[in-house]
Amino acid sequence: MARLNRLLLTGAAGGLGRVLRSGAAEHADVMRLNDREDLGAAGKGEEVIQGDMADADFMLELTRDVDMVVHMGGQSTEGTWESVLNSNIIGLYNLFEGARKNGVKRVIWASSVHAVGYHPTTTTLDTNVPTRPDTNYGVSKAFGENLAQYYWDKYGLESVSIRIYSCFPEPLNYRMLSTWMSYPDFTHLIERCILTAHVGHTIIYGISNNSTAFVSNAAVGHMGYQPKDNGEDFRAMIEARDGVPGPQENMVTVHGGQFADFPHFDD
Ligand SMILES: NC(=O)c1ccc[n+]([C@@H]2O[C@H](COP(=O)([O-])OP(=O)(O)OC[C@H]3O[C@@H](n4cnc5c(N)ncnc54)[C@H](O)[C@@H]3O)[C@@H](O)[C@H]2O)c1
Repeated sequence: MARLNRLLLTGAAGGLGRVLRSGAAEHADVMRLNDREDLGAAGKGEEVIQGDMADADFMLELTRDVDMVVHMGGQSTEGTWESVLNSNIIGLYNLFEGARKNGVKRVIWASSVHAVGYHPTTTTLDTNVPTRPDTNYGVSKAFGENLAQYYWDKYGLESVSIRIYSCFPEPLNYRMLSTWMSYPDFTHLIERCILTAHVGHTIIYGISNNSTAFVSNAAVGHMGYQPKDNGEDFRAMIEARDGVPGPQENMVTVHGGQFADFPHFDD
C-alpha cells in the first residue's frame, strides 16, 4: 500500500483519536481531523474541520479528496437513544455515503465488544459469530458492522470493523485483564488496517495478547495483527487492589461486562 495523500481521522478530540493524531500521521501526506469538539490549531500536515457527523451535507464535504478514513468519532458508551441514533447510526451512514460518493478506498472504524456483549465469557469468540448486543450502543455497533458489509458487497467500498474491547493505558479492573488493548497494540492494529493490501470487509478483535482473552483473531490472519502486550502482567496488582469478582457477576460472565447491568437509558 502506497503512502496516502489524505487520511481522515474522525473523533480526533476523543481518547483514541488523540492517540492516533500523532500515531497514524506517518501514513499520509495530510491528516484531516474532525470532531464536533474543539481540536485546537492544525499542526504540520494537518487540516482541522470541526462539525457534526449527523449533518449529511457536512459529511459529504468532509470525505471529499480523502483516500482512507479512520473513524473513531461517535457516542462511545451507552447513552440516550437520540445520542446513539445521531452519532452512531445517522452519523455512520453519512460517513459511508460520503465515502461512496467521493470514491474513498477504505473505512477503518471502531465497532465494539458491545456488539457481541451478551456472549458468555466461557465461549471464545471467533470473528464469524453472530452479533449479540448488550445495550442501545451495542445495537448501533451491530448496525455499523452490517452497514460496512453492505457497502463492501454492493459498492466495493473496503472496510475494517474493529471490535475494540478495552483500550486504555493499562487495565483498569479485573475484566480488563482479559479484554485490554494497549495503545502500542492499538496503533499497530490501525497500521495493519491501513497497510493490508486487501481487506474486503473484515471484522477483527481489538485486543492485546492477553493470556485469558476470550476472543480469537485466528480467522483473520490476513491482517497481520500481532499484538505484544498482555493484561496478565497487571493481575497481581489488580487482584490485590480489587479482589476477584463473584462467579455470577456480569463483570466476568459476559463479554460486555458491566454494560449488561445498565438499565434502559431512557427509563
Ligand atoms: N476506548 C475503548 O476502550 C473503546 C472500546 C470499544 C469501542 N470504542 C469505540 O472507539 C471509538 C473512540 O472511542 P474513545 O474512547 O476515543 O471515545 P471518546 O468519547 O473519547 O471519543 C469520541 C469522540 O467522538 C466525538 N463525537 C461524538 N459524536 C459526534 C458527532 N455526532 N459528530 C462529531 N463528533 C462526534 C466526540 O466529541 C469525541 O471526541 C468510539 O466509537 C467508541 O465507541 C472504544
